[in-house]
Amino acid sequence: MIEEIKTKALKEGVPIIKDEGLAFLLNYIEEHDCKEILELGTAVAYSAIEMASISKDIHIDTIEKDEEMYTQAIANIKEAGLEDQIDAWFMPIEEFRSDKLYDLIFVDAAKAQYGRYTEQFLDNLKQDGAMIYDNMIFHGLVYDVDNISSRSLRNLVKKIIKFSEMVHNDERFDIMKFDNIGDGILVLTRRKSGT
Ligand SMILES: C[S@@+](CC[C@H](N)C(=O)[O-])C[C@H]1O[C@@H](n2cnc3c(N)ncnc32)[C@H](O)[C@@H]1O
Repeated sequence: MIEEIKTKALKEGVPIIKDEGLAFLLNYIEEHDCKEILELGTAVAYSAIEMASISKDIHIDTIEKDEEMYTQAIANIKEAGLEDQIDAWFMPIEEFRSDKLYDLIFVDAAKAQYGRYTEQFLDNLKQDGAMIYDNMIFHGLVYDVDNISSRSLRNLVKKIIKFSEMVHNDERFDIMKFDNIGDGILVLTRRKSGT
């Protein structure tokens, strides 16, 4: 069933996480025993279903603002029998508020907003939790930004580069970057006090 969701998504041009990125994410969840997960950017719930399928103890809140995507996501979650584990929220991420603390926040929505999302959800991250960001090399375009002819695309890619530099220089965080995994993955954790 998950293969069908993936095939359909790829056929219809729905942007879902690449295989290597997904493998990294699932491995991270298992290794760090993540149970409460917040996902920014549901699309058709492909990654949410994959994450929830790791263990019955995992719960996911996932946010999507596109109605068509959300409707498809709800249908896919139901078909996968994961309604108890996945709560899909139909709203702009910017409006989502919660008191919950998460082990993992998977950031996979508007790339230009990664800095904003970090600040918005930092208080929802457990002390030893992590934020994982996808598309950090944006199809390799971050390496060749000056040759991007579309101005809007160039600006978007510049924002991704700026975000990467910003968190790198932010003393609150430790980051690990994996440019060679999928479309580029960044893992952000809180720096332990005193270091
Ligand atoms: C890359 S896709 C998510 C893919 C999904 N995580 C997966 O791998 O299966 C990004 C999604 O984020 C949604 N999105 C973008 N900006 C958003 C916002 N501000 N609020 C809510 N959803 C947003 C888009 O509509 C799109 O469906």
